Order: sequence, then structure tokens, then C-alpha cells
Amino acid sequence: MKSKVTVIGAGNVGATCAQRVAQGGYADVVLLDIVEGMPQGKAIDMMHSHPIVGSSRSIVGTNSYDDTAGSDVVVITSGSPRKPGMSRDDLVAVNSAVMNSVVPQVLKHSPDCILIVVTNPLDAMVYLVLKISGLPSSRVMGMSGVLDTGRFRSIIAAHLDVSVQDVHACILGAHGDTMVIMPRLSTVGGVPLTQLLSKQEIDKLVDRSVKSGAEVVSLLKTGSAFYAPGIAAAQMAESIVLDSKRILPVCAYLDGQFGLSDIYLGVPAKIGADGVEKVLEFELTDEEKLALDKSAESVRELIAKLDLS
Ligand code: NAI
Ligand code: 2OP
Repeated sequence: MKSKVTVIGAGNVGATCAQRVAQGGYADVVLLDIVEGMPQGKAIDMMHSHPIVGSSRSIVGTNSYDDTAGSDVVVITSGSPRKPGMSRDDLVAVNSAVMNSVVPQVLKHSPDCILIVVTNPLDAMVYLVLKISGLPSSRVMGMSGVLDTGRFRSIIAAHLDVSVQDVHACILGAHGDTMVIMPRLSTVGGVPLTQLLSKQEIDKLVDRSVKSGAEVVSLLKTGSAFYAPGIAAAQMAESIVLDSKRILPVCAYLDGQFGLSDIYLGVPAKIGADGVEKVLEFELTDEEKLALDKSAESVRELIAKLDLS
């Protein structure tokens, strides 16, 4: 059966994600934006790369939701990125309006789809999309941890001069400054980071990771990171379409896990054809639980700013 992934928002993250999915060869792709001509132009350009990379999947660029009909997965990247000096949270009002416009149109054409939200401020936007959509929470998730662990993993690998492939990481909580990086559950060849580096060294790597989104923003000056975010969202789409049941760090709805309820936060979860099929829960130290609660509080403050009527 042919699978179909739609990416809403053909900007930096959306276009990167669309290209990655189509080159993966497991789904046809529709790339939609409100800017006329832009998604069409990008889609044609991407299609021209397919003979070179050996993909026979189609990418359609469009301004019409009709073309998105019957999508299995819809990745929502539409909205504004932050500019230098802005936090992700400054985007709440403008991007809430975008979610309110996009989600009903997506569901009208693809009522059975699974939604992956990328738009910031991520944890609050996923919660908003859950409420707008009325879908079961298993079918609405956000992309944060694949990116954040990707950053931490690459920073650890560079510091230790080892292959990134043998570095794994665990990060919980919000996609923001309060994210909870878990060095004791981050490993190099299976060995916990805490047994390889001193606390001071680990603290430096953690600090660099938490600030790496802002580091990219300040260097780019005209937008935020997009290569790693686009590819991270594509990895989640792939696990759903192929029913791979990968354990990925995603922004998932918590219903009692880690002592938290009615909130979206980053946690490890099984991602398959039914969406978020299981949140992996485990024991936290008192310090970790405190940090996760603080992170949850920062998300609840943003949720309180949403118009959920
Ligand atoms: P961008 O500005 O390059 O692209 C956004 C696109 O959305 C634009 O092409 C715009 O025309 C389109 N758009 C706006 N309103 C729309 C609507 N109603 N319907 C359809 N398309 C619409 O921004 P970029 O860099 O692609 O970032 C997109 C979002 O993703 C931002 O909110 C950014 O903060 C967020 N982001 C989240 C990350 C995460 O880890 N969750 C990582 C990186 C970015
Ligand atoms: C990032 O972490 C802006 O959320 C985006 O780069």
C-alpha cells in the first residue's frame, strides 16, 4: 500500500523534512504552504534530485489541502521561527493562530492521520493541537527529543573523539531551557557518561547542548536551526509509516507517567503505526524529579496563555 506524508509549512524545517522523507523511499510527500509558488518550486527542485539519489517517490508542492487528502502522517512545521533575542515562548500567540487555521483543514482531508507537531513553543503547541484536533493523544506528538538528543550526542562524540553512532542520550522535559538532560542514562558504547567524564566536564557539555538552538539562531541571524530539526521529524514519520516501533525521545501526552498528567513533555516512547504506542516510564532520582517538575511547570505557564475555548 502506498503511504503518504504531508508536511505543512514549506519553509526551512518543512522543506528539509519533506526531502528527507521522500529520499527515504517509504512514502510519497505533499509539501504545503500559504505562499504561492514556493512549495511547488521546492518540490520540483527536490524531484530533480530523485534520479540522483535513486528515489522513485513523488513530492507535490501545493497551496491546496485537497492534495493532502488521505495522508498517513502530517508534519506541522508552519509558523514563525524565533529571531535573535527571542525565546521559543515568544512565539505562542502568532503560532497558536497558525495551528487554529491549519489543524481543522488537515483533519478534514486526512481524518485518520497521525500528527507530528514541530512548531514552537513546541510543548504548548502540541497540547493546543491535541485540543483543536480532538484526536486521541496517541495520534498527536511533538518533535523535540530527537533533535535535543541529537545535539547532545554530537557534542559528546566530538568531546570524546568517538563515533556518534555509539553515543546515546536521554533527555526528558520541555523543548527549552528547562529540558532535563540525563547524563546517567546517556551512554558511550553502553558505558554511562557519568563513568567516563567528571561532573564539571559533563556540566559543560550539558550547557552547550541546552544552548545550541540559541547558538544557531545567533549565528544565522535570520531564522533558527532546520537541518537537524527537519531530519528529526522525518525519523519520527518513518517509524510511524514503517511501524518500526523505534524507541524515540518525543513530546508525548502524559497521563500519570512520571507523576505528571494532562501535559505534553519529552519522554522516551515507542513510535509505530498507532502513533505513540507506549511511554517508557522509569524511576527518577529526587533531583531529576524536581527538575522534571520545574520543566513541566514552565510548560503549564505557557498552556495557561493558550486560548483553549
Ligand atoms: P520558516 O519561516 O522557514 O517556515 C515556516 C513556513 O510556514 C513559512 O514558509 C510560512 O509561509 C509557513 N506558514 C505560515 N503560516 C502558515 C499557514 N497558516 N499554513 C501553511 N503554512 C504557513 O520557519 P522554520 O525554520 O521552518 O521553522 C518552523 C517552525 O518550527 C517554527 O515555529 C520554529 O520555531 C519551529 N522549530 C521547532 C523545532 C523543534 O525542535 N520543535 C526546531 C526548529 C524549528
Ligand atoms: C531549536 O531548538 C528553534 O526549537 C528550535 O533550534
